[in-house]
Amino acid sequence: MAVKLGVNIDHIATIREARKIREPDPVAAAVLAELAGCHGITAHLREDKRHIQDRDIRILRGVTTTHLNMEMAPTQEMVQFAIDVQPDMVTLVPENRKEITTEGGLNVAAKIEDLSQVITTLKNNDIAVSVFIDAETDQVKAARKVGADFVEFHTGRFANAFDMGTAQDLDREFSAMQDMTVLARKYGLRVNAGHGLNYRNVGYIASIEGIEELNIGHSIIGRAALVGMDRAVKEMLDAIRRAEH
Ligand code: PXP
Repeated sequence: MAVKLGVNIDHIATIREARKIREPDPVAAAVLAELAGCHGITAHLREDKRHIQDRDIRILRGVTTTHLNMEMAPTQEMVQFAIDVQPDMVTLVPENRKEITTEGGLNVAAKIEDLSQVITTLKNNDIAVSVFIDAETDQVKAARKVGADFVEFHTGRFANAFDMGTAQDLDREFSAMQDMTVLARKYGLRVNAGHGLNYRNVGYIASIEGIEELNIGHSIIGRAALVGMDRAVKEMLDAIRRAEH
């Protein structure tokens, strides 16, 4: 199965919001990323609107020709917004205003009832739903219980082990990804992964049989600032293809 690349364009909006002006536009970044060959666009509409704005998602919905994945917290306000804008998919993530980035997976196991309601509402409105979770058995079981279509495994612990851990740390985190992918697929869940993936570590995760799509933001946007979006996306696609089974 060819692994797909979803490009998270939030950090183009981060640069724009540093000045609160109109440039650079994440919509332009999305168009360039698609022209470079990515398979989807991801944007996180945070409740504090620190980078992506409502306007960005609305315009992205109009111009995205691949697949629009909107990340959001499972709140009533966000659910109403998603129903109005109709992204192809919503990925439910935890949110903490003080965090620099999404630090851990959503604790689905602790919120079965609330999340079941949110997911049913989104699915009844023709929006596929993914839950961003840690690669743990309880969370995978809970994802099935709440009726998610996809899980997205949080690869942050794996990325940290790759950079700073021992060989055993890396082995443990990589095995967790492999084992939980098998379990999720056994339950009929589709599997994506993301967070902290970069040009050096992406090969490991792309080699796992059963993972469909990788959502990658910071490393691609960081490289795009230096070499341009087209080259940054193509180099990531090459890194993924080199690893494929
Ligand atoms: N997937 C999810 C659910 C995320 O919240 C993020 C960060 O916004 C990413 C993927 C991308 O992470 P990174 O920017 O580290 O590539």
